[in-house]
Amino acid sequence: DEFEGSGVWRYNAALPFEEGVTLPEGDTPLHEMPRLEDDIGVDSLRVKHEGMNPTGSFKDRGMTVGVRVAQEVGVDRLACASTGNTSAALAAYGARGGMETLVLLPAGKVAAGKIAQASLHRARILEVDGNFDQCLDIVQDLAQRGEAYLLNSLNPFRLEGQKTIGLEIMEEFYADHGEYPDRIVLPVGNAGNTAALYKCFRELVKAGAITEEQVPKLTGVQAEGAAPMVEAIEEGYEDTRRWEDVETRATAIRIGNPVNAPKALPGIRATGGTAVAVSDEEITEAQRDIAGEGVGVEPASAASVAGLRKLRNEGVVDSDESVVCLTTGHLLKDPDAAAEAGNAPEPVENSTEAVLELIEERSSV
Ligand code: F0G
Repeated sequence: DEFEGSGVWRYNAALPFEEGVTLPEGDTPLHEMPRLEDDIGVDSLRVKHEGMNPTGSFKDRGMTVGVRVAQEVGVDRLACASTGNTSAALAAYGARGGMETLVLLPAGKVAAGKIAQASLHRARILEVDGNFDQCLDIVQDLAQRGEAYLLNSLNPFRLEGQKTIGLEIMEEFYADHGEYPDRIVLPVGNAGNTAALYKCFRELVKAGAITEEQVPKLTGVQAEGAAPMVEAIEEGYEDTRRWEDVETRATAIRIGNPVNAPKALPGIRATGGTAVAVSDEEITEAQRDIAGEGVGVEPASAASVAGLRKLRNEGVVDSDESVVCLTTGHLLKDPDAAAEAGNAPEPVENSTEAVLELIEERSSV
């Protein structure tokens, strides 16, 4: 309570340093969702909105640690492959730390807000004629040749910072409910967050803070067009099989080779969770539902709520469960997707009469 640092560094006992390069990050809201809770039909539904971090996604929690480590190591060029959010966070935290940043993005597949952030925070942006997985192959090559310090979630220090999502959820949910949530539902791309949450819960059990039975069921959601984790869970694979062709409106999770799958799959299995794929239409519907409660998220984030609804409909999730859905990025990250999903602006003549006529016409429908 005495610590004045960020939501992340408050938990520095679980982190490799006392403090880091901070903007500051963490302390994100855990929203009540009364109408959606009723509509989906669970005992309790909360949304942990990670879009409220400084650059608008959960990536900030990892970068505050990762960039600090890079300073310690003494590297001068930081690099990542990204579907957008990692590049925005790396650019901002790299700038904060006074370091050069290089980001490789899949050309034409990154939302406008994310490119704008990387650009203004002075990242060197290379648009690769390929998908995210191919960008990551190249960045790994660069790192192996000593040309750059890799800050994708393959970097274990990123995941250390992301563990604090789990710590915040457990602390806040317990304070409100007097118990821990039964289940955490989250979108899965590279499976870094899933791996980070599992590590968080293993450490809590080991420290005696919670029992094995109190660990929430880790439940991953992917888009149907990019669902190698769902396939691995359904088929019982130890690791995912790389999907060469991936597509989804949720470009943040347009990933065919989740590099953290070997760490994340055991977490889903050991906690009694599962993985489910949702369609782009289901994702859009969920994005509207969440927005209808006043909370704005990007498509990938809405996949969590879409997945919960699907699992509830299928009876995999019980009506007496308490659930936390993770929304990983802010609505403004992808303004085009928001505009497509939302109401279209209506042109109107410049007069009160014309406006009155239009709004009466609409309300009489
Ligand atoms: N949600 C959002 C908004 C994301 O940006 C990402 C990943 C995920 C979910 C998936 O998280 O990889 O830990 O399973 N975005 C990365 C990026 C790949 O480059 O911004 P994960």
